[in-house]
Amino acid sequence: MTGSAMTSTPPHTPAVDPWVARDAAVVWHGFTQMAAYTGNMPVMVDRAEGRELIDVHGNRYFDAISSLWVTTLGHHVPELDAAIVEQLGRVAHATLLGNGSRAAVEFAEALAAVVPVADPHVLFGSDGAVAVEQALKVAFQYWINRGEPGHNRFLALGDAYHGDTVGALSLGDGGFGTAMFDPLRFPVIRTPGYASPDWAAKLIGGIEAHTDTLAAVVIEPLVQGASGILVADPGDLAEVGRACRSHGVLLICDEVATGFGRTGKLFASEWAGPEFHPDLLCLGKGITGGYLPLSVTVASGQVFDAFNGADLSESTFYHGHSYGGNALACAVALRHLQLFDEWQVLDNVAVAAEHLSVRLSDTVLGLPGVREIRQRGLMVGVELDPPSGSVRWGRRVCAGAVEQGVLLRPLGDVVVVMPPLTTTVEEIDRVADVLGRSIRAVWAEDLG
Ligand SMILES: Cc1ncc(COP(=O)(O)O)c(C=O)c1O
Repeated sequence: MTGSAMTSTPPHTPAVDPWVARDAAVVWHGFTQMAAYTGNMPVMVDRAEGRELIDVHGNRYFDAISSLWVTTLGHHVPELDAAIVEQLGRVAHATLLGNGSRAAVEFAEALAAVVPVADPHVLFGSDGAVAVEQALKVAFQYWINRGEPGHNRFLALGDAYHGDTVGALSLGDGGFGTAMFDPLRFPVIRTPGYASPDWAAKLIGGIEAHTDTLAAVVIEPLVQGASGILVADPGDLAEVGRACRSHGVLLICDEVATGFGRTGKLFASEWAGPEFHPDLLCLGKGITGGYLPLSVTVASGQVFDAFNGADLSESTFYHGHSYGGNALACAVALRHLQLFDEWQVLDNVAVAAEHLSVRLSDTVLGLPGVREIRQRGLMVGVELDPPSGSVRWGRRVCAGAVEQGVLLRPLGDVVVVMPPLTTTVEEIDRVADVLGRSIRAVWAEDLG
């Protein structure tokens, strides 16, 4: 493993792998301080098998973060590979602006049959942030098209993260260097997030206070992922849904992270019960099983109908991206959705999530340096509690896991565990054992 190479080098001067050096010379990695990049021993992936990534040197890593939350069934899945090859034999891409494609129609039909949106209409994009931007613009224009232009504000939650484009960044609460962009961000009405036990009551209070000016309420149903896996109660979600409905305010559910089985149901919104229907639903990440960039904003029939009008009229939604609804991405997304049923993926999520909960409680929760574990399905945040004066705990704990062949990545001092939905109990045992060992080692380094 990379760790054996590390032990023979003096501290603070790690040997730079030639692949890492080539990478750092030409690639600018997002959310990454490039001056520290090579010293953080990045894994240089060459290929993958099942749920393991294999680096350029042949080392294997269990992908316990699902390649930043996108991989659902695993890597290199023969059925998904075949769907792309089959589509490649027809056409790789054709624009959806003003024309259509068979692959996009077939996927949109399959998706429309399962989303918790009434009379759904699918607007394609390519990344999660785009799905959110689209939802914002649709919600804003919806009121103008209806002749009620005063509804131009959004209510978003504390600790929210909705992506890094300027509109999505405005909805987000901050962190990750967001503050410097304040002059570009539009103001939102902000009520507390899931870390606050009365978040739903506060949100509903916000709706009541601003009904006349609100375009929409935006939430990440059940789990605020990027803020460290903060979790909500399904009953509170249901209440928020009812309040939006009774006050005539649009509800945007950002399920970019929680969609496609992560929380144990196909969509996290389903936990709030059969009456809970977002007006706009944002999906991305796992939508293609982690294969190709695709996202969608699903609008209800009521929202969609507000955009009907004469050809070229102002009621048109003048928005769309070059690669939105890419045919290869749609083909693999369709096959992916079919495999959810064929493989009974959600049954495995239930078993794996329960096992993960038990193993993390046994092996990790009681350790010194661990404050709390939060979980919904296969989305887990292990919040560390570093001794005072200790630095970069999250990063060091994850680096220790990577050295043992389990790929983890922290959000600050929260270690996120988000394995693929097909993960076995044996793989979960390994993740829990490795994480426990790594936390103990970092604790011993600082206090031992
Ligand atoms: C809830 C949520 N919305 C939107 C995004 C942005 O998605 P993308 O990185 O694909 O633009 C993320 C990414 O983590 C997310 O967690």
